[in-house]
Amino acid sequence: MDKRFAGKVAVVTGGSRGIGAAVATRLAAEGAAVAIGYRGNHDAADALVARLTGDGGRAIALQADVADPDQTGHLVDETVRAFGRLDVLASFAGIEHFGPLETLTPGDFDRVFTVNTRGQLFAVQHAARHMGTGGRIVLTSSVSATRAIFHHTLYAASKAAVESMVLNLSAELGRQGITINAIAPGGTATDMAAEHGEAYRHPGLELPLEKWLRTQIALERLADPAEIASAVAFLASDDAAYMTGRTLPVDGGFF
Ligand SMILES: NC(=O)c1ccc[n+]([C@@H]2O[C@H](COP(=O)([O-])OP(=O)(O)OC[C@H]3O[C@@H](n4cnc5c(N)ncnc54)[C@H](OP(=O)(O)O)[C@@H]3O)[C@@H](O)[C@H]2O)c1
Repeated sequence: MDKRFAGKVAVVTGGSRGIGAAVATRLAAEGAAVAIGYRGNHDAADALVARLTGDGGRAIALQADVADPDQTGHLVDETVRAFGRLDVLASFAGIEHFGPLETLTPGDFDRVFTVNTRGQLFAVQHAARHMGTGGRIVLTSSVSATRAIFHHTLYAASKAAVESMVLNLSAELGRQGITINAIAPGGTATDMAAEHGEAYRHPGLELPLEKWLRTQIALERLADPAEIASAVAFLASDDAAYMTGRTLPVDGGFF
């Protein structure tokens, strides 16, 4: 595999599981030293670090709840203390939410936006302090941001805001030579999809999930997290040097 990130340092929030873990794995395989941020799952984070270091890579795990910007600041500062620099922020910490309008509470709104939107904004703020020309930031949106799905308003809106954030921040960060983009994955086979996948079917639709996927996705299957990670690695690399402020859908052709 190419070593596009040799000598570079990446911090991956939500790196303990799912897409974030696949991103950490891909960046490490291409030569990056990787700090894996996680919320509470020490075992998964430690197992990933053991795997990456066992393969000859450099990796550490750092607990940080992105709902608290001070913890995110600590995550970034500790990454720089451990590895001496910061080149890439890959922001994958996120939570799912489904709920019909009449059940939504201000607490639901705050919880979802605090992690999915505010959490990503302050990760950018802290990471940008340490980055110079060539810095790369990749945030996470979702195919849901641009689709109408029953009961998905809070999650979808929290991700749509991220697409606007990368567009607007690209102007400021461009002056520092930093690019910022988002990735919008489609359904991807992770714990999150296993827990919430069924909720994506419109209420009353009796189709089994497998058949429903075939009517909605050109490639007729969920993504493997590694397939999202390869697109993230592109955005985080010098191959994407002239791309900023954009959201890249990687959704297998979601209609
Ligand atoms: N899977 C999909 O189909 C899909 C589609 C589109 C977009 N996405 C987005 O892609 C990202 C990753 O999704 P996934 O499916 O890989 O999720 P996942 O399997 O549920 O993993 C979530 C990851 O985020 C971390 N996390 C959650 N809340 C956190 C917090 N407050 N602070 C720090 N870390 C936190 C978790 O840490 P712990 O292990 O410590 O709990 C874990 O590493 C999310 O932003 C999600 O919205 C997913």
